[in-house]
Amino acid sequence: MDTPPVRVALLGAGTVGAAVARRLGDRADLLARRVGAPLELVGVAVRDLTRPRDLPGVAADLLTDDPDPLVAGADIVVEVMGGIQPARGLIERALAAGADVVTANKQLLAQHGTELEALADREGRGLAYEAAVVAAVPVMRTVREALAGDEIRSIHGIVNGSTNYILDMVARLGVPFQEAVRQAGDLGYLEADPTEDLEGLDAAAKIVLLARAAWGVEVGLADVQRQGISGLRDTDFEDARGTGQVIRLIASAWCSGSASEPRVEVAVRPTPVAADHPFGMTREGTNMVIIEAESAGTLRLTGAGAGGDETASAVLGDLVNLARARVVARRRA
Ligand code: NAP
Ligand code: HSE
Repeated sequence: MDTPPVRVALLGAGTVGAAVARRLGDRADLLARRVGAPLELVGVAVRDLTRPRDLPGVAADLLTDDPDPLVAGADIVVEVMGGIQPARGLIERALAAGADVVTANKQLLAQHGTELEALADREGRGLAYEAAVVAAVPVMRTVREALAGDEIRSIHGIVNGSTNYILDMVARLGVPFQEAVRQAGDLGYLEADPTEDLEGLDAAAKIVLLARAAWGVEVGLADVQRQGISGLRDTDFEDARGTGQVIRLIASAWCSGSASEPRVEVAVRPTPVAADHPFGMTREGTNMVIIEAESAGTLRLTGAGAGGDETASAVLGDLVNLARARVVARRRA
């Protein structure tokens, strides 16, 4: 292929970043065919250069602990480092320098996504974040694009993989709570700060992003009525079992106003559900989102809500779409 490559900078090579780097290597031909040009990994930013890494096919000299020059020279920046800073500044500089951005960083988007989207619009660049909400499951795309002509009434979901894994292990297999937390960490499901999962902050960020996409309202993390799972006691699990129920961490957003004047409420709470309800049967790290829309009726989306390869699937989907748009624009120029 003689088309010039699309230059990709990867910020972060942890659970998600390492999976993205591996797939950029082993799916290089397939991705190039879909994009219409090769995707060239021009650098990988990490915090600790001495850490051993499983990055087959990534030349050692591509690793750096200085992300700024990477961002300045890329066509597309993939931010999977997490946290607010330096991620926010790097994304802003990338957009200002003419790059498109893919991110999986739901906390950053929940706190500063409105400004970042406005910056991307001003710069005429793409800011894509399917991976930030329910990892492999295309929920953002469904809400923002597939249902753009409908009126969404409510969104309810299990949107956090680690807490679902923990709740399921404790209730179904009798695994002690702290041991289940440890296992969720080993599976790559937990955030760098696990309290974000356990206290419902991760789920809160995701439901905020879904509510904004569904109703175009400026809801924020402070608007979420939030309770996590760390306060649950053995008796809560036993009481639920005694009534044929299991506990799930349910994130909800619903609109009680009209399409022109939406009044939106958002909540995250541990909720007893019937063991044979679709939420009750959602096990381990699987997530499920149920959307009620006026014309479409009830839609149910389910699949992997966390994990390196699963999240990389959504990151790469955004990356291919943005890269293809760049290649088409280049041909027209
Ligand atoms: P992670 O395993 O902790 O990896 C973070 C990576 O970023 C590491 O490679 C780290 O470097 C690097 N990094 C962190 N701060 C940095 C800095 N200041 N400068 C340079 N590099 C830095 O995290 P993860 O699980 O991959 O998650 C990454 C993002 O994806 C987060 O926003 C998370 O919320 C989101 N996400 C994760 C999942 C999941 O299942 N894990 C799913 C969906 C979305 P070192 O390796 O040197 O420490
Ligand atoms: N910590 C998150 C979860 C990762 O457990 O769902 C995926 O966003």
